[in-house]
Amino acid sequence: MVLQLHKRLMAVAGVVMTGYLIFHMLSNLSFFSEAAFTGFYDFYNAGPIRWFVLILMIVAIVIHVKAAIKIRKVNAQARTIDYAKHDKFKIPAPLVTISILFLLSFIVIHITQSLLFDTSVLYSDVTTLFQSPLMVLFYLAGLFVLTMHLSHSLANVLQTLGKTSVIYHSLVWLGVLALTGGFALIPLYIYFVMP
Ligand code: HEM
Repeated sequence: MVLQLHKRLMAVAGVVMTGYLIFHMLSNLSFFSEAAFTGFYDFYNAGPIRWFVLILMIVAIVIHVKAAIKIRKVNAQARTIDYAKHDKFKIPAPLVTISILFLLSFIVIHITQSLLFDTSVLYSDVTTLFQSPLMVLFYLAGLFVLTMHLSHSLANVLQTLGKTSVIYHSLVWLGVLALTGGFALIPLYIYFVMP
């Protein structure tokens, strides 16, 4: 019962965050036109929307992480003996934990950086950020872990819904790659293409 509630909370928070990510990626694509990017973020930062979205995201992250920890604990207590046979592509548990911790640190660092941006010169602040090769690598690594995390968790959602066909799984992969690839375009464009 408690486990079901946590699974539901985790899924709802996950859906809210995925919705935000789609919106965030699409609005960031406006970067390819300075006027469009500045126009969008001037509007976004003018009223309370930005703060509402930020608080919503922080609440969603906290709910998602807390529920995940609870589910892990309950599952560990229930399964005192490890499975005799694992999936062919099983990633070792410590690596999963490290990658999730990295993803969380990435999100915390990114939100901190976004709060330090001067909203009146956002376009040039983002451009300056990705002139650093370290920052480009850090963001690409964060997006890689996000790709793994989203494709794995969405595959689980498909499984729960009984959609196990290759077509559904391929669509999820394509969607996730379009999302994280869309994000990656900005640091890559700034570092390799912009004068
Ligand atoms: C290269 C990719 C990304 C770029 C260029 C980027 C850019 C930005 C910018 C410019 C802001 C500040 C917006 C403002 O002044 O209002 C921001 C905020 C934010 N970003 Fe990103 N972002 C990227 C990837 C991500 C990813 C992958 C996540 C989540 C996993 C994320 C989550 C957030 C959150 C939660 C905020 C604060 C809420 C908001 O202002 O909308 N971003 N990002």
